[in-house]
Amino acid sequence: MNYNKKSVEDIDVAGKRVLCRCDFNVPTKDGKITSDKRIVAALPTIQYLVKHGARVILCSHMGKPKNGPDPAFSLQVVAERLSELLGQPVKMAKDVVGESAQSLAASLKDGEVMLLENTRFEKGETKNDPELSKKLASMADIFVNDAFGTAHRAHASTAGVVQYAGLPAVCGYLIQKEISVMGKALADPERPFVAILGGAKVSDKLNVIANLLTKVDTLIIGGGMAYTFLAAKGYSVGKSLLDSEKIDYCREMMATAEKNGVKLLLPVDTTVADHFPDPIDGAIDVKVVDSDKIPDDMEGLDIGPKTMALYADAAKTAKTVVWNGPMGVFENPTLAKGTIAVAQALADSDAISIVGGGDSAAACEQLGFADRITHISTGGGASLEFLEGKELPGIACLMDR
Ligand code: 3PG
Repeated sequence: MNYNKKSVEDIDVAGKRVLCRCDFNVPTKDGKITSDKRIVAALPTIQYLVKHGARVILCSHMGKPKNGPDPAFSLQVVAERLSELLGQPVKMAKDVVGESAQSLAASLKDGEVMLLENTRFEKGETKNDPELSKKLASMADIFVNDAFGTAHRAHASTAGVVQYAGLPAVCGYLIQKEISVMGKALADPERPFVAILGGAKVSDKLNVIANLLTKVDTLIIGGGMAYTFLAAKGYSVGKSLLDSEKIDYCREMMATAEKNGVKLLLPVDTTVADHFPDPIDGAIDVKVVDSDKIPDDMEGLDIGPKTMALYADAAKTAKTVVWNGPMGVFENPTLAKGTIAVAQALADSDAISIVGGGDSAAACEQLGFADRITHISTGGGASLEFLEGKELPGIACLMDR
């Protein structure tokens, strides 16, 4: 896939109506935004458009509303926060492509900003419906996609507006940064290139593992998925999480690593307990055992200290390091040590460090390491599909340079 896409700077936006897709899918609690990270991440593009006299029509989804308009999923809270951050009013439409949206869009003046209601209030959004795509596109002259977190979805507001209505389409600064940092790491990395993968299940990361084995010098496996690899080595893993149908796959990946000259690191020791913590952040008695000596009545819940040192060392000596997925049950303070050790190693490393969204991004932020990481992706699923080497529809539809 070509990641060299035209950006907002390559197109004249002055006086034009610009439909700008953002990922304002922010977490909320009791009607309040609990993290405005994604709104802040969209600011550079919106500010550029405002400064250059565009008439800015923002749109996004939030959550997964299933039955049309639902006040619990309204983007009104986003409009309010965005307006504070921008220091100018953000006009909120009452619908997505209805009368309210259309008349507000038509009355916008240069440099003004409006926000459409949650695109998923329209059933056609997730179906990439051509009619909805055309209605959305009819309000605008240009499409700017800056929603990296949603770029893996072929929806009306992410791809249909280009596919079915032919709007000239460019990327915003956020997508541009995501694809240039991660695209370079995958296409032309500074070596040694180390990838660290964690998370619960091997089956969630099958294609990521296969793709990375063609790119990296070292692949490090931790988290719940490590136990299936340990089982594939013939170890008994006790009550640990096991994707038994994927044991052969893990064997195959170990053989591929050997064939490709990739060092594959697995945990050498493991923090075990006799049950999964319940509640997840509750007190738990643990002990550390070698990975080939996990007792039958115990389950592995984090990497052990020798493994932490081994993984940290590999991260520190890398020139490029990509990390996706926690090393253990990081919601629990006793079982978060492996994840913290990896986050710390990335923060301490001089390498280009990339954290691929989701839980590992949250861990870096909670630990206060975010500003010592080169790039923390705003995409969860999108960054994983990017690492798989898949074409992302929201990026593929943009004009090439
Ligand atoms: C995300 O939070 O990963 C994106 O906003 C995509 O959301 P979705 O999984 O609901 O499509």
